Amino acid sequence: RNIDGDVTYTVRAQKGETQIFNGSKTKTYGYNGTFLGPMLQFTKGETIKIRTINELDQETTFHWHGLEVAADADGGPHDALQPGEERVIEFKVTQEAATLWFHPHPHGNTADQVYNGLAGLIFIEDENSKHLNVPDDYGKNDFPLIIQDKLFDENHQLNYREARNEDGTIGDTLLINGTVNPKLTVEKEKVRLRIVNGSNARNYTLKLNSGDSFVQIGTDGGFLNEPVTVQEVTLTPSERAEIVIDFQAIDATSDLALVNEDGSVLLPFDISHSNGVASELSTQLNDFTLTAEEKNLPVNKTVELFGMMDHVTINGKKFDPDRIDFTQEQGVTEVWEIYNKPDIMGGMIHPFHIHGAQFKIISRDGAAPPENEQGWKDSIAVHPDETVKIAIQFKNKGLYMFHCHILEHEDNGMMGQVLVE
Ligand code: C2O
Ligand code: CU
Ligand code: CU
Repeated sequence: RNIDGDVTYTVRAQKGETQIFNGSKTKTYGYNGTFLGPMLQFTKGETIKIRTINELDQETTFHWHGLEVAADADGGPHDALQPGEERVIEFKVTQEAATLWFHPHPHGNTADQVYNGLAGLIFIEDENSKHLNVPDDYGKNDFPLIIQDKLFDENHQLNYREARNEDGTIGDTLLINGTVNPKLTVEKEKVRLRIVNGSNARNYTLKLNSGDSFVQIGTDGGFLNEPVTVQEVTLTPSERAEIVIDFQAIDATSDLALVNEDGSVLLPFDISHSNGVASELSTQLNDFTLTAEEKNLPVNKTVELFGMMDHVTINGKKFDPDRIDFTQEQGVTEVWEIYNKPDIMGGMIHPFHIHGAQFKIISRDGAAPPENEQGWKDSIAVHPDETVKIAIQFKNKGLYMFHCHILEHEDNGMMGQVLVE
């Protein structure tokens, strides 16, 4: 937090070189540094002023993913900053404690810029989160994990143009917080991991290689009502999950790791011999509710996701910055029904994201969502032939994007606009 006059934060999009591999330098982008970005800390109720500066040699935007702000502060594709340009945005934090993130959103060029390293974190705190019994000692028992996969060429360069895949660039190297082969040293205590899928396209199903369960305490936009015991969590691009692993309860000898579905190791844990704090988790974390009224609202908007490669569309159309696809009234809850229409190849999961609001999942194919999705969401995985109903309300006015968060699909036009009036 660099207080500069009444500016709370200064965020610069920069390019540079990063030592990701020993002995070599990779050309990367970053915020306030050469790779990834800082963690911005907001408290509900405060007014935040951010000075954003584009120090790249191409246009970019500063988008606060999951933040409920007026559209003119949202940093969508209409808010491009040219090289050398800067802009101060100001907003009041009106939403509850959550782990959000920020990334660029320039028209047609989002995937490239995120892939090269532009991504940062936002932690929101509120009165509830301050009083909860959840691990919150940052860097000791509370860690963010930005998971990304990248493809490096023989010179350890990212080379997006060559790596690019129209269905979403997938890499063979996994990085957490920009580090290859990461290892996390923890004490024997409960440890909170705020996991962000910051990949362009890859989905992760994370579990412990020991088979031990853990608890999920948060979704994209806040705490779940209660800790939910799970064996694994699946995150599609841009989704977040906060989990707590109890390293005292796990009888781990060695080799304990967070692994992906296929068994590949994402993060080995090094458990030190010392005992950390032995505290119980709060059993009541939040008071999120999907009301009977919300459940029974008629469907106001239907969204059909379709296609693969560069043939992706929403309701049969590609993004047009001059077309408004939907309008919605500020402060009014509406139901959006999102359908993923399969193609002859079967189709693929599209992670659907809406700007400027957190929403509630009403149903997946008519059934209540699983317990660990009964919380605020801003992105959801929609499977082929699946219909998801959500209840959404915008607190602010303006023009907001909704799109597939496979970044190459977004750049290929799988995006629309809702005008909130
Ligand atoms: Cu993560 Cu349109 O954004
Ligand atoms: Cu967003
Ligand atoms: Cu998609």
